[in-house]
Amino acid sequence: MTAVAVPADAAVVNAAPPAQASARAKELRAQLEAHNHSYYVLDAPTVPDAEYDRLFRELQALEAQYPVLLTVDSPTQRVGGKVLDELQPVQHRVPMLSIQTETDIEDSGAVNFDNRVRKELGLAEDAPPVEYAVELKFDGLAISLRYEDGVLVQAATRGDGATGEDVTANVRTIRVIPLRLHAAGGTAPKVIEVRGEIYIDRRDFEAMNASQQAAGEKLFVNPRNAAAGCIRQLDSRIAARRPLSFFAYGTGESEGWTPPLTHSGVLDAFAAWGVPVNDKRAVVQGAQGLIEYHRRVGETRNALPFDIDGVVYKVNSLALQQQLGFRSREPRWAVAHKYPAQEELTEVLDIEVQVGRTGAITPVARLKPVFVGGVTVTNATLHNEDEVRRKDIHIGDTVVVRRAGDVIPEVVRVLIERRPVDARSFVMPQTCPSCGAAVRRDEDEAVARCTAGLYCPAQRKQALLHFASRRAMDIDGLGEKIVDQLVDGGMVSTAADIFRLEAPALAALERMGDKAAANLVQAIAQCRDTTLARFIYALGIRNVGESTARDLAAHFRSIDGLMAADGMRLQQVTDVGPIVAQSVAAFFADGHNREVIAALLAAGIHFAPIAEPQAPAPGVAGKTFVLTGTLPTLTRDEAKARIEAKGGKVSGSVSKKTHYVVAGEEAGGKLTKAQELGVAILDEAALTELLNEI
Ligand code: IVH
Repeated sequence: MTAVAVPADAAVVNAAPPAQASARAKELRAQLEAHNHSYYVLDAPTVPDAEYDRLFRELQALEAQYPVLLTVDSPTQRVGGKVLDELQPVQHRVPMLSIQTETDIEDSGAVNFDNRVRKELGLAEDAPPVEYAVELKFDGLAISLRYEDGVLVQAATRGDGATGEDVTANVRTIRVIPLRLHAAGGTAPKVIEVRGEIYIDRRDFEAMNASQQAAGEKLFVNPRNAAAGCIRQLDSRIAARRPLSFFAYGTGESEGWTPPLTHSGVLDAFAAWGVPVNDKRAVVQGAQGLIEYHRRVGETRNALPFDIDGVVYKVNSLALQQQLGFRSREPRWAVAHKYPAQEELTEVLDIEVQVGRTGAITPVARLKPVFVGGVTVTNATLHNEDEVRRKDIHIGDTVVVRRAGDVIPEVVRVLIERRPVDARSFVMPQTCPSCGAAVRRDEDEAVARCTAGLYCPAQRKQALLHFASRRAMDIDGLGEKIVDQLVDGGMVSTAADIFRLEAPALAALERMGDKAAANLVQAIAQCRDTTLARFIYALGIRNVGESTARDLAAHFRSIDGLMAADGMRLQQVTDVGPIVAQSVAAFFADGHNREVIAALLAAGIHFAPIAEPQAPAPGVAGKTFVLTGTLPTLTRDEAKARIEAKGGKVSGSVSKKTHYVVAGEEAGGKLTKAQELGVAILDEAALTELLNEI
């Protein structure tokens, strides 16, 4: 929704407004707030923006004409305006406390808390489980919203818990926070303080930082700092432009209110008054319930649009909360159970380059080891030169490193203000660090490449590793350390040489023994029995991934046929365009490549007969599937192969274009996303049924 300028031409009338004008202003305030709530909280706009703007302008005009009609809860006040000299202190009549934290990654955090609660309450071992309200632990800024007779009169930060700062003007600009409690929730108490967290969605945060960067302004380290910075602004027009949001999680002072019997009931009451409460909250029983919640949220954490750093467990009954009371400044009835941080600060010790299979030279940040996302991270790919420039990463910089779930770690941003004077910028080498050949970057390419092809030892090693990889020839035991020694020692220079290796020579290598050498020789022998598709993929032709390799194999049905095809014939293959056709033709035109292929075939590689193409199943052909979790009997690869055999595609991420998500045990964020997007969800049995349909 857009903010609208104040009309300048309305005549100001100081006399009391006619009853009709007062009534209309009241009605407009209620309507606008209801639309606001639908738009920002429920994400379900009820009227077009133009209609909202019309109502907004009508209210502004009334308020301009009759200034007495302008109330603090008027939606026209959300655009900000006041500029303060300083933030005023606010005494919290009920202190804003913090909670104890359990940092155990395992279940013991939940068990310890439940044990403590049961002991304090004097419960017998066989007494029924304690009921808990469980919530997300939002990673933002704590705030207390004071409503008097339903109207937001003050918003204060936590400060030291006893005294905070008055940030009312800024908080009024946050669209999700009702300026007046909704009547649907029943009569508002004389006083109620709603406590909760102000936060920023991750995507909004990235957008905000992008515009800060474009404007040459300082970047925020994380959404929490950004939220805190916005809320403690003196100029509320700045806060009004920030994408701030809010979730309630507790109560401060109240007067004239009979609270529900449980904490979850309190949050229900807040929701009925139009106060945002997160819908991932739940009520569970006993330690087991806490453990399951912690696990469930942990699995779907990455799919949340905002950062959390844990979950919070609270004894649900307010009477029991009272009985448990406080120890120093923390309640005995609540605990935060954290997850490993997904973002940490560390230093860039160096930026080195790696040479890939196709000669791509990739800058890699060597980092001071840092524990993030549950593992120790020591390096992060920076992808290419432009990326290093875009993120402005220097050697010596302090950077934010993020590792969320299984995603590879990335350098998110630099803390420019911490850049040391001797920081060095990255220079892309002119020559390949492995072979010394020239490095070239074509104009329309983001990637710089070593020009030596397979004469470059680094490219050769990568090509061999690719050839041996699981989805290619699947030679178990031929890893990086062995390939390094084989290439550096001159024992192997092409893939065909692998088939001449003998156990005694292998056993003499470092990290090898007789047993490992014998196993490797056996693995090499076994890989000779393969499929044409795997073999084509294993050759490492540029732009030919697994799926294209399969298409090429299905189309040409023999390596000779493929090698003889020209660009025109290649483009007849499904999904093969001019770029792929050119890569394939160029690969097979190369004399060295042809020699290696001849040597491989002479070494005894042979291909399983290719089945006649199956008629695509109507329910599968052309459909996109996403696999998640562990299926009861099929492995991922098997499920994928079956779907593809019937003309379906398997993709790694869920989007609106996904037709089916196949979910097994411990399915995580992809399942949640599918549910959110309304994508059909299948279990293994349903998938099998679909695959068997004619
Ligand atoms: S309850 C008396 N619930 O975490 C209990 N706190 O130290 C008061 N936080 O700064 C806190 N999400 O701002 C509670 N669902 C949640 C929370 C939450 C985030 C913050 C809170 C406080 C810190 C706890």
